[in-house]
Amino acid sequence: MATWRIAVLPGDGIGQEVTPQAVRVLDVVGKATGVGFEFEQALVGGAAIDAHGVPLPEATLTLCRQSQAILFGAVGGPQWDSVGQEVRPERGLLAIRKELDLFANLRPAKCFPMLVDASPLKAAVVGGTDIMVIRELTGGLYYGEPRGVERFADGSARAVNTMVYTTREIERVARVGFEVARKRRKRLASVDKSNVLIVSQVWRDVVTALAKEYPDVALEHVLVDNCAMALVQRPTQFDTIVTENTFGDILSDEAAILAGSMGMLPSASLGGSVGLYEPVHGTAPDIAGQGVANPIAAILSAGMLLRYSLNLVQDADRVDAAVMRVLESGLRTRDIAGGGRAAGTREMGDAIVKALEARY
Ligand code: NAD
Ligand code: IPM
Ligand code: MN
Repeated sequence: MATWRIAVLPGDGIGQEVTPQAVRVLDVVGKATGVGFEFEQALVGGAAIDAHGVPLPEATLTLCRQSQAILFGAVGGPQWDSVGQEVRPERGLLAIRKELDLFANLRPAKCFPMLVDASPLKAAVVGGTDIMVIRELTGGLYYGEPRGVERFADGSARAVNTMVYTTREIERVARVGFEVARKRRKRLASVDKSNVLIVSQVWRDVVTALAKEYPDVALEHVLVDNCAMALVQRPTQFDTIVTENTFGDILSDEAAILAGSMGMLPSASLGGSVGLYEPVHGTAPDIAGQGVANPIAAILSAGMLLRYSLNLVQDADRVDAAVMRVLESGLRTRDIAGGGRAAGTREMGDAIVKALEARY
């Protein structure tokens, strides 16, 4: 049986609380199937700044490169808000994405039937929502040059970030969009701002040209402001969405509310030889340290790791099913409890581990 090395990077805040629950889930899969997991933990983000002065120590990046997959928590927090922009905790994550060429970020936003009332939106609106947001992850405003700030003697400043995309960068992520849509309901919405941005005009041209290779996928172009509205007005009209880095960041947080909570949204970052799996949410400083964070986004991310990096599709299905089972039983963390009795992070993890063990 194979042995896989998994880099475990919990990071900061609730990243340190939810990631261990995802590891427990992989452990169950390993014990039940005989697949060996070697979990190697490393520092990233604020935790790495505190220990080594940098958000991504060389040893952490090396471990990531030498692993089959990366299980990531979250990075950042108010403690590090005053450090320079280039050494913030978030830089650690951005550097891993870039170094490993993880250009395609899959963020599934699904409204599970038993959670229709967990969303602040009406059940009639969110019911049946099943969207795959594909966010370009290594280009655009996040990485474009020139970037920087000029400071003047009078105290004023001029700051620059650059949104830049090449044809190649657009085409490769759009291709992922078409391929994913093809395996789903064969509808792809490409989201841009081509009525204003030159970058978006090129984006739209490249996607349109590529569509000729995918005649079975219905492509529509949607302007990002309209998409933000349509996501909460009629989310069921969307199947697969592909968009650039910044738009995808913003729209996927919005989409999390269709699923009930930020604590429900997993993600997979693909493209290079090592995949990275992380919840879409951050370190949640408002609830960190209390043991109340929802571990489901992290656990579903572990499921995506099984599916996309290890091709253990049946085991991934079992993880998803175990989460569904536990939610059907009525157990809820605070973010999805609607004021009712709430389980803590550990209790939710225990229940999912038990439900998963029962599926083998
Ligand atoms: P956040 O996602 O951390 O929190 C937003 C809201 O959602 C908060 O009210 C929080 O309590 C809630 N929430 C998030 N995850 C939850 C969970 N699992 N269970 C229950 N409730 C949950 O966003 P923020 O507050 O804007 O950011 C906080 C810090 O996290 C910042 O430093 C930011 O840069 C960082 N961040 C990191 C990542 C990442 O590492 N991938 C992602 C987003 C934000
Ligand atoms: C996310 C986060 C990150 C991003 C931050 C922490 C760098 O918000 O993964 O959505 O903006 O990509
Ligand atoms: Mn984000």
